[in-house]
Amino acid sequence: MSNVAEELTPDTARQQLVEQLTAKGRLSRPEVAAAFLAVPRHEFAPAATNVQAAYADDVVVTKKNAAGETSSSISAPWLQAYMLETAQLRPGSRVLEIGSGGYNAALIAELVGPTGAVTSIDIDADVVTNARVALLRTGYSQVEVALADAEGGYPDNGPFDAIIVTVETADIPPAWTQQLAPGGLLVAPVRMRGNTRCLTLQNRGDHLAAIAAIQCGFVPMQGEGKTSVRRLPLRGKDIVLTVDDTTTQADGEALAAALELPRREVWPPVTATMDDGGAFESIHLWLACQPRFYGVLTVDRDRVADLLDPDNRFTCPCLLTATSFAHLTLRQPDRGTYQFGAHGFGPDAADLTAQLAELIVVWDQQHRHGPGPSITVHPAGAPLPTTDGLRLLVHRRHTTIAITWPGLAGNVEDMA
Ligand SMILES: C[S@@+](CC[C@H](N)C(=O)[O-])C[C@H]1O[C@@H](n2cnc3c(N)ncnc32)[C@H](O)[C@@H]1O
Repeated sequence: MSNVAEELTPDTARQQLVEQLTAKGRLSRPEVAAAFLAVPRHEFAPAATNVQAAYADDVVVTKKNAAGETSSSISAPWLQAYMLETAQLRPGSRVLEIGSGGYNAALIAELVGPTGAVTSIDIDADVVTNARVALLRTGYSQVEVALADAEGGYPDNGPFDAIIVTVETADIPPAWTQQLAPGGLLVAPVRMRGNTRCLTLQNRGDHLAAIAAIQCGFVPMQGEGKTSVRRLPLRGKDIVLTVDDTTTQADGEALAAALELPRREVWPPVTATMDDGGAFESIHLWLACQPRFYGVLTVDRDRVADLLDPDNRFTCPCLLTATSFAHLTLRQPDRGTYQFGAHGFGPDAADLTAQLAELIVVWDQQHRHGPGPSITVHPAGAPLPTTDGLRLLVHRRHTTIAITWPGLAGNVEDMA
């Protein structure tokens, strides 16, 4: 039998990747497509990576920490394409990439050309060395790779027309805003109550405003900006509840016991198709913004088939009480059509599933088809504009992140 991976050449694989990204609508700017065609992604992957894996629309893991968790990777091409397009890079742009590896920096170098400048920083000396070597080998010696903590940015080479952060952050350190040139864009995957969105942020003087947001995942920030979340194992590592605020009270033992009780379910008549991708990330953020105890359930789907409907392919937002929880779920009444539902466990399951079902309906009727929430970032402690919307405030060390859904009264303070 022929081995497809062995027969595939890097040139063909690169071409196929670009065709695939274009067909999926992930590449709309020709110069970004040209950059993907020019840079040999396999040269930045570990030596053991075969061509097929190097050019799949997926993450390539490049380093794990002592606990076996991924600490560095080449991000998925669709997400790199998104970030490069949303950052509006052009010839002559000065760019800071935070979180290195070399491949993305080479793509940036293609886009900004000989009149631009690319600086890429990483906290891990191995990553810095490997990135330098790979960039030299592939002809991108103009990229400056430096060992530095994201927290301070890289003032020596600023100001930057774009700062692209390729590591998950819970906060926006002041250095990033200070090092942004007038009119520049900050693209960063920001974790807000357990939900990470790649935000494209513009400086509006006294705050930053997101002009675009997309769901994504990145390795967590190390160094000075490292933050932690509470992880409650409800059935070993197979079912874990993550809580990313200080307000939510959750008793891991009680919730684990709740799992053993019969499951409640409610299925409101609200559906979406996979083409309606924005609906899934919209409802997740909507649920995260509620003034309630909240967490995100991660489930090993192969090992815990009894908890989830087979069509539920997402992490699950959860409403909680001290002893019970209800999580968002999905089923497929017709092929390609997904219905949102609520599964509940524990003594309060009946109430919680009914409340979750009601929130699904309110989202569908009032928010799903609108402009979506506005996301703004304000210096910590600064007065915030009043709003007549439902607003979640995520309080971090340097900033307060405000997620505001228009049209509903009520401020939700101090949720994180
Ligand atoms: C997803 S990888 C970067 C991928 C890279 N941009 C690429 O496309 O190939 C994230 C990187 O962020 C780095 N990192 C984590 N915390 C950091 C920090 N505080 N400062 C700088 N880099 C950090 C990690 O060492 C890791 O190499």
